[in-house]
Amino acid sequence: MTEATKAGLEGIVAGKTSISTVGKEGLDLTYRGYSIHDLAKKATFEEVVFLLLHGELPTLTQLNEFIDQLMSLRSLPPELQTVLKLIPKDSNPMDVLRTGCSMLGTLEPEKSSSLQLSIAKRLLAIMPSMLLFWYQYHMGKGSIETSSESEKTIAAHILHLLYGHPASPSQIRALDVALILHAEHEFNASTFTCRVITSTLSDFYSAITGGICALRGPLHGGADEAAMEQISQFKSVDEAEAGIKSMLSKKEKIMGFGHRVYKYGDPRSDIIKEWAKKLADEPSKKNLFSIAERIEEVMFREKHLYPNVDFYSALTYHFLGIPTFLFTPLFVISRTSGWCAHIFEQRANNRLIRPIAEYVGPLPKPFIPIEERN
Ligand code: CMC
Repeated sequence: MTEATKAGLEGIVAGKTSISTVGKEGLDLTYRGYSIHDLAKKATFEEVVFLLLHGELPTLTQLNEFIDQLMSLRSLPPELQTVLKLIPKDSNPMDVLRTGCSMLGTLEPEKSSSLQLSIAKRLLAIMPSMLLFWYQYHMGKGSIETSSESEKTIAAHILHLLYGHPASPSQIRALDVALILHAEHEFNASTFTCRVITSTLSDFYSAITGGICALRGPLHGGADEAAMEQISQFKSVDEAEAGIKSMLSKKEKIMGFGHRVYKYGDPRSDIIKEWAKKLADEPSKKNLFSIAERIEEVMFREKHLYPNVDFYSALTYHFLGIPTFLFTPLFVISRTSGWCAHIFEQRANNRLIRPIAEYVGPLPKPFIPIEERN
């Protein structure tokens, strides 16, 4: 295999970006030049979204205006509510966001690319409403009000819609940090999908819908749900040790470990692990946290693999009382900010993305008429 045809395009530079760096010179992750460690400690998700969309951190006035705009864009059009009610109760919630995003594109189509920033904000504001409206409707709560102005931030809004009452400041901050960590990650599979779709001059909703489809798989965003299922099958640290070793001996993948780019650890993992630890405030949660740490130890000892962002995010969401099947949709809500920034960047300097393939099929041969084939 030549350098240019490396499987999975590993290590291939497929374009330029000024939005983020991933794994350059070892471990770092930066958004628009700011370290993920600073952003996760000092910024809010809304500040990070503004940074990604506008290229600069907001002033306090800009941030307040931005938050007000997002709050005003949360409500679901009646036609979309009807569609969400029709999506079956046992559907994968990723279908809900995929269909919801696509439906919104029919109700509020992108009539001009000059509207792209407004569409980006609308999508960021409405996705939590779509997801939790569908969820609560099928949980028997009827048509819940999603445009409430009692919660200013996306994290607080999500948890309020989920719990049916306001969340505590530490619960809100834990989700806020998880959203910051998932917001952007250079040319990952879903972002690259958005850019490929955008490069054909397709519309904004099509690009985001494509991103949702790519994120769903367990090798990408779906890993958080798969990791939770793996962690929760063990009752004790010893069971986890034996179980993980057995899975490795059968060449099974342990979800939430490994990364295409970070070979010496994902910088997001320790940040979210701290939050999982803080939220593990009762014996059953402490036990699950210990099981996760034992899995981390075994994976390092046996395979020299580190947890990626999804492993301890899964525990964090679980400790926040979020049902496992909503984990990957939360990733969508966060990553939409990065996707939007990449769509803007692709459009600003567009050229159709159309690579070529190395042909490995048969040599040219004569055509056989159908009556002569056997
Ligand atoms: N469990 C067990 N073995 C693993 C794992 C894992 N999670 N990840 C990599 N390996 C092994 C793999 O079996 C292979 O071993 P060998 O050379 O003996 O065949 C070697 O490490 C290289 O793995 P690879 O699959 O060729 O590496 P890749 O760069 O193609 O894949 C990955 C990267 C993330 C797809 C992979 O590590 C994986 O499948 N991890 C589990 C899924 C996961 O956690 N995905 C989330 C990624 S980060 C967040 C995101 O993008 O959403």
